[in-house]
Amino acid sequence: MELEREFIGRTYDDFLFRPQKGAVESRRRVRLSSRLSRRIGLELPVVSANMDSVTGGPMARTMALEGGLGFIHRGVSIEAQAQEITQVKRSHGHIVERPLCLPRSATIRDAREITRRHEVTGILIEERRGGNVLAGLLSKRDMPWFEGYDDHRVEEFMTPVERLHTRPPGVSVEEAERIMFENRIEKLPLVDSERRIHGLITKSDIILSRQRPDSSKDGKGRLRVGAAIGARGDYLERAAELIKAGADVLLIDIAHAHSEVMKQAVEAFREKFGDTELVCGNVGTSEGALFLRDLGVDGIKVGIGPGRGCRTRLETAAGVPQLQAVREVWCAVGETIPIIADGGVRDDKDIFLALVCGASTVMLGSMLSGTDEAPGIVIEDPATHEKQKIYRGMTSPQAVFEALYDASSPEDMEAALETPPEGQEMRVPYKGSVRDVLHRIRGHLRSAVSYAGCDALARVREQAVEEPLRFLIPLSAAARRESYER
Ligand code: XMP
Repeated sequence: MELEREFIGRTYDDFLFRPQKGAVESRRRVRLSSRLSRRIGLELPVVSANMDSVTGGPMARTMALEGGLGFIHRGVSIEAQAQEITQVKRSHGHIVERPLCLPRSATIRDAREITRRHEVTGILIEERRGGNVLAGLLSKRDMPWFEGYDDHRVEEFMTPVERLHTRPPGVSVEEAERIMFENRIEKLPLVDSERRIHGLITKSDIILSRQRPDSSKDGKGRLRVGAAIGARGDYLERAAELIKAGADVLLIDIAHAHSEVMKQAVEAFREKFGDTELVCGNVGTSEGALFLRDLGVDGIKVGIGPGRGCRTRLETAAGVPQLQAVREVWCAVGETIPIIADGGVRDDKDIFLALVCGASTVMLGSMLSGTDEAPGIVIEDPATHEKQKIYRGMTSPQAVFEALYDASSPEDMEAALETPPEGQEMRVPYKGSVRDVLHRIRGHLRSAVSYAGCDALARVREQAVEEPLRFLIPLSAAARRESYER
């Protein structure tokens, strides 16, 4: 299908959505489910950008809890990135498959350190380090809270295996719940007849999965997480480690994905990792989208230069207005591959417009920056006392410099050196928890769906995506002023 002329040169502020007769009684019931990629669905169609001032482990974890997903950035060593993935995957689940363990001989100091670092309330104790044979359980409550016991061994304080309730692997969640309730315990280790550890079920995880039915979870109840890799250097080694750590979807993210570099990267990836979920970007044209589709990717990330920390258009004149890009890509690939609209979202209504014009999810950078969950510290402006955090493009001089520092291979280093800055750094207001931002976005999206006369985002998309111009009102300069100037 050919791009409609009306979208040429147009972006989010160029349209309003024509209100339709309302159909929902309560906006709180409006469903927002959508597809991130071929095999992954989300209840909130929002993902956090793989930028070093936006998505590390804490952001990815909260995004998944709230029904979206975070793509952990790759501006760190392979080990550090894999570690972030592990932490997200381990944070929740019906069953913790590889629970944290310490040997009997470990000290209370070791136990304090590991519970603090991993934010857990208890650890399994094994007979010998790495032996995987259960000796006991040390919960936070068992640890002396006063000074003087740091060098004592954990075995002095743990509940020994003979006094523990355990079950064989394969126990149902319902059965585990019953045992935990009847015995007023919060943790149930899973062991076989030789006391070998096969997992751990915790009360808090079961409660959480009940309370948060919309969280993004894999088949084992663990939070979903994505991770970025490059297209050169050690990217295949990185991919292998991230997959091992449990990443649900990988993202080959380069500035110009309609390129030979991308083709080679995807082919090598597929050869090595088969049909592992793979999203690629960025492109901004129908040709670029068809190119990625033909390479067999599972999701297409769209956006050339709309990002707030981005200077590509200013420096190179390359770019496509973002709503045009989203529409153009949808016209090329339709519903065959989900589209992620990446960058340029300034107001919540932009998300809705992207979705009705063809995107399945939207990637946000600056809108989620400045939050507690984004990496970086809160700074106070000495003049205004305003609290702020840093947001920066991944090719800003500062990010490039740090990438050089952390680069794990000569190729990475060379690539970083070759790239002239096309991004910039800025301070953004400190915003508190990203949960509040997502709560606001969710509320506005539900309202937008309701104004569109539907009870679910999927219904609006069904009605609008084939012919969005039936619902969109192009704005004059005066109408734009009336709409947005306050
Ligand atoms: P927003 O507008 O949500 O955009 O802050 C986030 C997206 O911006 C892209 N990005 C960059 N683009 N140079 C660019 O041309 C950069 O240095 C840069 N850093 C991030 C990226 O696609 C991100 O998701």
